[in-house]
Formats: sequence, structure tokens, C-alpha cells
Amino acid sequence: MIKREELRQELMACRGRDTEKPFDYNIVLIGFMGSGKSTVSDYLKKAFDMDVVEMDALIAEQQRMSIPEIFEKYGEEYFRNLETQLLIDMQAQSNVIISCGGGVALREKNVVEMKKNGKVVLLTATPEIILERVKDDEERPLLRGNKNVEFIGNLMEKRREKYEAAADIVIATDGKTVFEICKEIVQNLVKAE
Ligand code: S3P
Repeated sequence: MIKREELRQELMACRGRDTEKPFDYNIVLIGFMGSGKSTVSDYLKKAFDMDVVEMDALIAEQQRMSIPEIFEKYGEEYFRNLETQLLIDMQAQSNVIISCGGGVALREKNVVEMKKNGKVVLLTATPEIILERVKDDEERPLLRGNKNVEFIGNLMEKRREKYEAAADIVIATDGKTVFEICKEIVQNLVKAE
């Protein structure tokens, strides 16, 4: 059950006033595969009637290919360029949740583009929790044959600095409900406005 009213009240209380649109910028969710970006996007979407751009899903739709197929056919660099273009296209909008693929924030240019009209929220989780969340999924080419805590922990460590540098806000998700995570996001976004 979505605690829609509670979250709306929280936003209003943090701001001290009501606003027509909940956010006059985009909320850009970044973080490792399985850090909860899609789940959080869906909750915020329902709570605030916002649009969500799920970057992977939109790219797959536009290319008429799955992410693993794009990687196989055109390579990772091609896929990364599509991500950059999508971020540029999104700058014209506001009040949209942009759920980034796990690699999006690793490119410096992407971080510049996402910050132009977005506040960047980094979601984190331990490798053990990430493994639990991704273990039955076959849609992530980088994790094929690599679904173990050691691989996930190492890749996460390699990416940590870039993720943190990109983030306006960092939210640890371990042991929290999605409502608690969203409430923390709302509180921290308002502080960062
Ligand atoms: C990737 C993460 C995936 C997807 C692609 C590459 C990455 O997105 O973009 O498999 O480099 O971390 P999710 O984080 O939504 O799984």
C-alpha cells in the first residue's frame, strides 16, 4: 500500500507551503544495479503523480532491442552514448523521475547533463543485499556469470567514488521500507533546494 497522503504531507511540512507541481526540477536516481531505483521511482510516481523515465526501458523501446542485445550488437560505448543523449533530451522537462541505469553516472559528461535540471539522488545497498535483489535477473549483461558478493563488491568499490561525486543526496537503503526511503529522499531534496 502506498502511503500517498503521508508522503505528500511530509513534502508540504518540509517546504512549509504547498506547491502546484511537487518538484520544479527532475529527480535523477542513480546507484548500482539492484540498489532500488525502479522500486523507488514507482513509489514516488504513485505518491506524487509524476512521470517516470526508466532509462533502460526507454532505450530498449526506442532501439527495439533488449539491453543485452544492444550490448552484443553495438557494444557498451554505443549504449552509453544513447544514455547521454537521453539525459540531454530530458532537460526540457521538470517534475519527472529519471531512473538511470547503473552505469549512467560513471561518465563525467552525463553527470554534467543530469545536473542541469535535476537533483541527483544516490541509492546505496550492501553487496549482499544487491545480490539478493538481482540473483534471478538475466537482463543485466555485466552480471552474467558474476552473481556473487565478491564480484559485486569489487565493481561497487570501483564505482563508488564516481557515484558519490555525482550525488547531491545519498540514501542508504538497507533495512528500510520503500516508504522510509522515499520520505528520506523528500526531506533531503527539500533541504537541497
Ligand atoms: C548497467 C546497469 C543496468 C543497465 C546495463 C548496465 C551498469 O541498469 O543499464 O545492464 O553498468 O551498471 P540497472 O542499474 O537498472 O540494472
